[in-house]
Amino acid sequence: MSEALRAGAVRIESFLSETEERCLAEDVRDGLTRPFKEIPSKHFYDTRGSLLFEQICGLPEYYPTRTETQILRDCADEVVARTGAGELVELGSGESGKARILLNAMAGAGTLRRYIAIDVSESVVRSAADALLRDYNALCVHGVIGDFERHLDRIPEPDGVPRLVALLGGTIANFPPASRRELLRGSRGPLGPRGRLLLGTDLVKDRAVIEAAYNDSQGVTAEFNRNLLQVVNRKLDADFATEAFDHAAFFDREQEWIEMRLRARLEADYAAAGLRLDRWFTGPESLFGLSLAARA
Ligand SMILES: C[S@@+](CC[C@H](N)C(=O)[O-])C[C@H]1O[C@@H](n2cnc3c(N)ncnc32)[C@H](O)[C@@H]1O
Repeated sequence: MSEALRAGAVRIESFLSETEERCLAEDVRDGLTRPFKEIPSKHFYDTRGSLLFEQICGLPEYYPTRTETQILRDCADEVVARTGAGELVELGSGESGKARILLNAMAGAGTLRRYIAIDVSESVVRSAADALLRDYNALCVHGVIGDFERHLDRIPEPDGVPRLVALLGGTIANFPPASRRELLRGSRGPLGPRGRLLLGTDLVKDRAVIEAAYNDSQGVTAEFNRNLLQVVNRKLDADFATEAFDHAAFFDREQEWIEMRLRARLEADYAAAGLRLDRWFTGPESLFGLSLAARA
């Protein structure tokens, strides 16, 4: 099909602007002045963060992507048959790899009309939309560059066919219970009266399996985690020495979620105080440490 004919099949709208920088600034001010410091996970996904996440999805330890992909392959036809869906709306669509499984099932059932992807990362939405247009002849792709906690009302109305709204990749686990419920409540809007929600959730299992997935041997997840500080440095003109932070990820059995932390090494506190670490002494089990510092 010619470019001219395909030109109408893609639409990308952005609802993120300079207000995002304000949003990041507010989240950082609010999050880093709490006794337990935190920054919302959406700020991980600048262009580099999104690329690192794609790399994580292919790591041998990172079971969520391949296991969810296999389940989707097994159940996509049934989901489409049950829902009659001809439209897929994906919240936090990333590179849209899993969406293809559902789109293929819709194409097989002869219902496929439109794919609507909402994500904070403009680069991934654009490249995914280009690739989908190349691979699916009759598909309309609508990219919504926005925050699914704030911009669900920007998702267009269903186009006369039943709709499937998907939130995959265990993204729901990035939200504490109150925001999780808020997000699920918000998803009822784009669902419309006849739609169905398809939600991917990681399940509780042996903690060693979970923790290995977030502490990969190649250190890609650690880099993804530290990249958050680079986002803050670049966008807010901050000066975090990212190499002075250790990545730590562990399963919180009470909350049933993985905690991803950045632990400032002692060097960071010394550097902030105009000192530098000269020598570090510890015992065989690293139960206690003695450090020797000099003026920086
Ligand atoms: C864990 S990844 C999952 C990607 C893909 N759905 C998958 O299953 O592989 C989370 C995705 O959601 C996006 N995201 C995270 N928070 C978001 C938010 N508040 N609004 C929109 N997109 C968000 C990220 O940019 C990223 O692409």
